[in-house]
Amino acid sequence: MRRDLHMKTYLIDIIAGARPNFMKIGPILRAWPKGGRIRYRLVHTGQHYDRAMSGNFFHQLGIPRSDVNLEAGSGSQAGQTAEIMKRYEALLKKQPADMCLVVGDVNSTLACAIVAKKAGLKVAHVEAGLRSGDWKMPEEVNRVVTDSLSDLCFTTSVQANRTLIREGKKRSQIHFVGNTMVDSLVSHRKRFKPPPFWQKAGLKKGGYLVLTLHRPSNVDQKEKLEEWLKRIVRHSQGYPVIFPVHPRTAKTLSMIRVSSVTPHPRSKIHRQPSAFRPILTTSPLGYLEFNYLVEQAKAVITDSGGITEEATVMRVPCLTLRDTTERPETVIMGTNELIGTDPKKLGPALRRLFEGRWKKGKIPPRWDGKAARRIVKILGLGTKN
Ligand code: UD1
Repeated sequence: MRRDLHMKTYLIDIIAGARPNFMKIGPILRAWPKGGRIRYRLVHTGQHYDRAMSGNFFHQLGIPRSDVNLEAGSGSQAGQTAEIMKRYEALLKKQPADMCLVVGDVNSTLACAIVAKKAGLKVAHVEAGLRSGDWKMPEEVNRVVTDSLSDLCFTTSVQANRTLIREGKKRSQIHFVGNTMVDSLVSHRKRFKPPPFWQKAGLKKGGYLVLTLHRPSNVDQKEKLEEWLKRIVRHSQGYPVIFPVHPRTAKTLSMIRVSSVTPHPRSKIHRQPSAFRPILTTSPLGYLEFNYLVEQAKAVITDSGGITEEATVMRVPCLTLRDTTERPETVIMGTNELIGTDPKKLGPALRRLFEGRWKKGKIPPRWDGKAARRIVKILGLGTKN
């Protein structure tokens, strides 16, 4: 009896919900030693559910099928968060766990952290301590609340450690481990491959730009999105601009005449050449194809946070169409620059790029492909490698 008690398995739920989560959990699962007393259960919340936004990433990153899929799906901010909470709470009631490990800043991160804490589980947060200071972003609310509930905080920078200390975390709760998204990049880089339209679109290394936009502030209004696209066309010096379109953006883009290199299944994007001719849209790409495109590009124009990190590691110039960033090291050390949300600022920045006056950048400390190994060691698992 005593022996059984001693040998009790300790179960850690690893939560993944939306596209940017998958490259963060992949390396942790890979570093997890087989057997042993500490086990994981992979819980997919179903926030992202399309093959293009979810399934393909599991496949390409070699992530095992999730143990549980909560199938929460889309909804308003509150609706989606509440649905994930209800379903995760039901799971914990039926099949309890001891710890909940969440990554990043999406609604799934917040929802599961709240439920786990109230159910008496320990909470661990990977990518803790990031702050943009912009409370209009749902992600900022998710970051602050998740960190406030977390018993263990794994960080990607010294700056994040300082933020957490300032907010009252104990030093013993904070671990500067590096960046698991970079772990994925380092381990899959040799497998990057050109997307199917590479030849058809006549793309060459350094001969095109990559564009991604999905923040509500940039894409929810037709006029704003159109203004960005017009500016990009005007200042891209005829370079093709490859634009993999996020489902949120596709809804607005269907009202604008933009050419497509591949048909987008969910939108009526016009395929006729138009005033936006250098911009070529495509449906969301797989991890290996997207990062090939970035690695070979002249530059990336984006409003994503994760892409600024990947561009920094691949030393590709990155123009961020936001006023703030929660990842300042990509600007201070990396190749990223905050252009802002005023489309007029884009022209001068692109001019500097084409004149060859963009900074070269350095890779931030501990973005070395070993973050996941540090995490599993701290979780008491020892290391596999
Ligand atoms: C979410 C994250 C954001 C992250 C982004 C990456 C939050 C608050 N935001 O934003 O931080 O950068 O994911 O993609 O969690 N949809 C599909 N198929 C899918 C998933 C979504 O068509 O597989 C549609 C939904 O119907 C919805 C829209 O895309 O209309 C947005 O999805 P949602 O998960 O609400 O937020 P994102 O904008 O993707």
